[in-house]
Amino acid sequence: MDFTASSASLLNIKADSLILATGSQLQNSAAELDKSLDGAISSLVKAGDFSGKAGQSLVIHIPGASGKRIILVGTDGATTAQQQIKVIEAGASALLKTASTKAVWAGEGLSDDAEWEASIVARSVQTASYKYDSGKKAKPQKLKSVTYWASSKAGANAAKKGLAYGVSVGNGMNTARQLGNLPANICTPTYLANQAKALAKGQGKVTTTVLTEAEMKKLKMGSLLSVSAGSDQPAKLIVIKYQGTKASVAPVVLVGKAVTFDTGGISLKPGGGMDEMKYDMCGGASVMGVMNALIENQLPVNVVGIIPATENMPNGQATKPGDVVTSMSGQTIEILNTDAEGRLILCDALTYAGRFKPDTVIDIATLTGAVIGALGKVTAGLLSNDDELAEALLASGTKSGDRAWRMPLWEEYDELLKSNFADMANIGGPQAGTITAACFLARFTLKYKWAHLDVAGTAWVSGAQKGATGRPVPILMEYIRSKAS
Ligand code: BES
Ligand code: MN
Ligand code: ZN
Repeated sequence: MDFTASSASLLNIKADSLILATGSQLQNSAAELDKSLDGAISSLVKAGDFSGKAGQSLVIHIPGASGKRIILVGTDGATTAQQQIKVIEAGASALLKTASTKAVWAGEGLSDDAEWEASIVARSVQTASYKYDSGKKAKPQKLKSVTYWASSKAGANAAKKGLAYGVSVGNGMNTARQLGNLPANICTPTYLANQAKALAKGQGKVTTTVLTEAEMKKLKMGSLLSVSAGSDQPAKLIVIKYQGTKASVAPVVLVGKAVTFDTGGISLKPGGGMDEMKYDMCGGASVMGVMNALIENQLPVNVVGIIPATENMPNGQATKPGDVVTSMSGQTIEILNTDAEGRLILCDALTYAGRFKPDTVIDIATLTGAVIGALGKVTAGLLSNDDELAEALLASGTKSGDRAWRMPLWEEYDELLKSNFADMANIGGPQAGTITAACFLARFTLKYKWAHLDVAGTAWVSGAQKGATGRPVPILMEYIRSKAS
């Protein structure tokens, strides 16, 4: 897909569809367009076909010009970034339902920030055009180009920057979605490692290293290896380095949980809906998505992605409830529930992250069912040992429409991890499951600024629309971009 920006007269841009985001009061370009169409748009407003309310869309065909259409998208009432993003997503989805090959996007009075708005347009068109790649030949994409129209030259220039950024975020989300949607018999730890190597191929700024189980054993990653013990698929620790600026700049390290299938292990999960545990690698997939986006837009930042990848299976070698293991940090862990495996692989990956002398470490994990109980599927849970970092992430979430909500990491919660037989247990009991999971991780992140995103509720949707969402690639990219400027 090709994205360009233009401030030429809207009536002169050649395209077979025009997306017009407008309220019921037609202003400026919308009014001009209406006039050139002999009042076609305003008469639909008058008749009540188009109310102009945020999220409403209506496709109208222009008489005399066969195949040309205007897609009206309502903007009235969309004042927050979140509401404006929903408007743009409605427009993108309406566009992709048509047979359009060349579209113009004109938003009249949606937001004042052309760069931001264009970035969301590009991202939304890109994600709306995602189709699951099953390996079979797919129909080629009809839509070839989108021109973002701005009322001024300065607006068009700002939009150009936004488009380039937004496309990369959209592609990064689609990368994460594709990996998430792949079944676990294809998307194994080895598959992920190979994808990570492929990502780096021919990319001067990117290097991928994959640690084997033997190498992890040498590093004394006893906690991570206790999870892969029950699986015939070997675990991999994938490390992707993106160096976009001077080596002396401390990197942002992203650590993404990639349990390519979570049966629960010996603490076996119930059968209903267990297929969705193929999505338990979405944290790792989002790190791959971010790397993909960074490669595409070449941001001047240093980012290291660490992806502990394993299955959680219950074979004869599997870890049993009550087993005690020693983590790379030297702290011992009594594993009371083998289904609390995410934290067991993350803790060793977080210790390993310290080697990169990080500026900041953010881990991303489909860690707890409890976060869905607390926050639903709307927002990710955010826990952090640093207020400034937490604030920056919350702001990045709001701006990108990929929101997070902070929860506390108080010692009263941490105390629930007490064990009689080790430094800590791997579960904290039935209460505050998202917080106790994060308290567990916090014991391994004392040496740096750290934040944890629990994306168990946001990384995929269930039901008829079942599929990975590509979250939290947008919030992570927004945060990383804010570091660059
Ligand atoms: N991957 C799951 C978390 C999960 C559950 C994500 C449901 C999305 C939907 C994680 O490994 C897990 O099983 N967590 C347990 C922890 C418990 C045993 C303390 C959970 O949430 O039930
Ligand atoms: Mn589990
Ligand atoms: Zn899990």
